Amino acid sequence: MLELKNVSFSADGREILKNINLVIENEKFVVITGPNGGGKSTLAKVIAGIQKPDSGQILLDGQDITDWGITKRANSGISFAFQQPVRFKGVTVKDLITLASGKNLSTVAACEYLSEVGLCAKDYIDREINGSLSGGELKRIEIATVMARKTKLTLFDEPEAGIDLWSFKNLINVFEKMHSEIKGSILIISHQERILNIADQIVVISGGQVAQVGTKEEVLPGLFGVDLGCKYFKEA
Ligand SMILES: Nc1ncnc2c1ncn2[C@@H]1O[C@H](COP(=O)(O)OP(=O)(O)OP(=O)(O)O)[C@@H](O)[C@H]1O
Ligand SMILES: [Mg+2]
Repeated sequence: MLELKNVSFSADGREILKNINLVIENEKFVVITGPNGGGKSTLAKVIAGIQKPDSGQILLDGQDITDWGITKRANSGISFAFQQPVRFKGVTVKDLITLASGKNLSTVAACEYLSEVGLCAKDYIDREINGSLSGGELKRIEIATVMARKTKLTLFDEPEAGIDLWSFKNLINVFEKMHSEIKGSILIISHQERILNIADQIVVISGGQVAQVGTKEEVLPGLFGVDLGCKYFKEA
């Protein structure tokens, strides 16, 4: 279980997260949504240890991890897929997936992760993770990588960004499958109604604060009616 207690974060003299209190229960599928600039990515970075809060506490299974760095948090079971994926020059897709899995993966096993995210594995497995990959390809490779980690808490920051509509439907299946197989908590930042629809819990972050927390039945009806300053993409 992940707990945030009165977490605040400022940058450039601006309070970006204000007294965030949040509990992510074990094995829950949680979706964070809310307007652009509301603080969602910052919140994910604070959880992953990329940004350090000015005040407040972060607890993982009751243990205070507030002062832990990125590596220690990653080793203790937190994975993070960035809104804008990181490139690793000189590292191949197979290297990265193998590294993420923490064991000696066969090429076939590494390829399975790529196939799950809709990439033709043989075309990608030996490619370097550099600027030659398209935005959507990078995004999918990153999703495959965090899937291979199988940690108790996986954070995805707008995984749908740059993924074409045809593949998006499959991506939903990938998340659902991952959730049932890993038996960990999944926290996805998303604006997509289809992702919101598969959530056990929805958290609305607006103006650096938790504006609402609840089940989809509780949160969704209000969400589409209220002008939060952001656009939600209803299915055609
Ligand atoms: N290091 C920083 N220095 C200054 N301002 C920052 C910093 N990090 C974030 N911000 C600001 O904090 C606010 C929240 O940013 P954040 O990226 O968390 O928003 P978001 O909810 O993820 O938005 P989006 O939906 O567009 O991805 C924004 O106004 C952003 O410009
Ligand atoms: Mg963001």
